Amino acid sequence: MEKIFNFKLNGKDMRVASSPDRVLLWVLRSDLEHTGAKYSCGEGFCGACTVIVNNEAVLSCQYPIQNVNGKEVITIEGLQKNGDLHPLQTAFMQHNALQCGFCTPGMILGAYSLLLKNPQPSYREIVEDMEIYLCRCGSYNRIIQAIQTAAQAMKGYKS
Ligand code: FES
Ligand code: FES
Repeated sequence: MEKIFNFKLNGKDMRVASSPDRVLLWVLRSDLEHTGAKYSCGEGFCGACTVIVNNEAVLSCQYPIQNVNGKEVITIEGLQKNGDLHPLQTAFMQHNALQCGFCTPGMILGAYSLLLKNPQPSYREIVEDMEIYLCRCGSYNRIIQAIQTAAQAMKGYKS
């Protein structure tokens, strides 16, 4: 049976009717036309569907909509501010940290969550935190470089 769920999506109030166990990824992509979060494995093993819920990275293909009620969701569409790209987005472009780009929204939001917890991570801390995110194109070295560059650029940055 459907219920009503209220949450903020990229700063805007949302009200969605859904069955409680429907996953956030489908609500975002099918109901709210936010297609930045990608469907890949669908089983919690790749990170392509990652979004931010209350400042934590979550796998939206595994995250029921009922868990979002009253919370704040950020997707890749909401990372820029007033037309200015987030430093992570700029750094990914600067380092060409992608090929097909399919994993990129999840990579960037995974890195966003990491830098919230640990603004100046070491190389090893980046590798360990990001190891759940898969890139089939093998852009890992450039992704790590982009995260290091963004961490430097974000000193004093208010997201
Ligand atoms: S699509 Fe969600 S973890 Fe792979
Ligand atoms: S850039 Fe293609 S999967 Fe990562």
